[in-house]
Amino acid sequence: MIGNKVILIDEVDSTNRFASQLLESAEFPEEGTVVRANFQEKGRGQRDAIWESEKKQNLLCSIILYPVFLPVQNQFLMNQMVSLAVAEFIEETTRVEAKVKWPNDILVNERKIAGILIENNLKGSTISSSILGIGINVNQLVFRNFGYVACSLSSLTGKTFDVSLISYMFFQKLDFYYQKMIRKEYHSILEMYSSRLFRLDIPSMYEIKGKSIKAIIRGVRPQGDLILEIDDGEIRFMQTREIRYLF
Ligand code: BTN
Repeated sequence: MIGNKVILIDEVDSTNRFASQLLESAEFPEEGTVVRANFQEKGRGQRDAIWESEKKQNLLCSIILYPVFLPVQNQFLMNQMVSLAVAEFIEETTRVEAKVKWPNDILVNERKIAGILIENNLKGSTISSSILGIGINVNQLVFRNFGYVACSLSSLTGKTFDVSLISYMFFQKLDFYYQKMIRKEYHSILEMYSSRLFRLDIPSMYEIKGKSIKAIIRGVRPQGDLILEIDDGEIRFMQTREIRYLF
């Protein structure tokens, strides 16, 4: 069960790095072990970005799982599962619609409220272990601009939250979706993820190969590439680094 064991650290460089060290240590961490920190000195984001978070204000955690049942070619399901859990949790807490900006940024009102950094360790054709790094903005109200505009549970609701309590509620939600994966309900996860996509079926602007083009997101393929309909009706499948959202 995710969250049965929580290692709470006051300050750490990065919870993902700490979790990765735990995996390398002699003690085999039990599945669902959470590393949670009040502050990260070097919080890691996607594409070598940094993850900013004021002390004790937000949920910063890394969860260790062993999804050995999942073939490597299906590893995007981990992103889908976590994105769904985070988005649904935020929506239930704020009562405001949360969207998934493919592949796994969580947005509310077009502002980033949570980030996900998944690091899978592969053994042959299976995933031997996975570290789910998750940052959810909880009580922070002022954010430096890192190329996106951010928000938090507090900025959306005007309330202050107990980060510990919030984290246990979130672990339950994540566990619910992980159980779905264990039961191999892959299709339902894909459908739910697709219907939560930011800009789904809405003509919008993107940068592809240095050019600005108008296109429509039509969904994702099971392996994770984005299905994009270009203005003239042509369908293209995009990988993460091939496309940039224009706002
Ligand atoms: C992103 O760029 O959107 C991903 C951000 C992921 C941040 C979380 S905070 C907890 C965990 N530890 C890290 O160093 N990063 C992730």
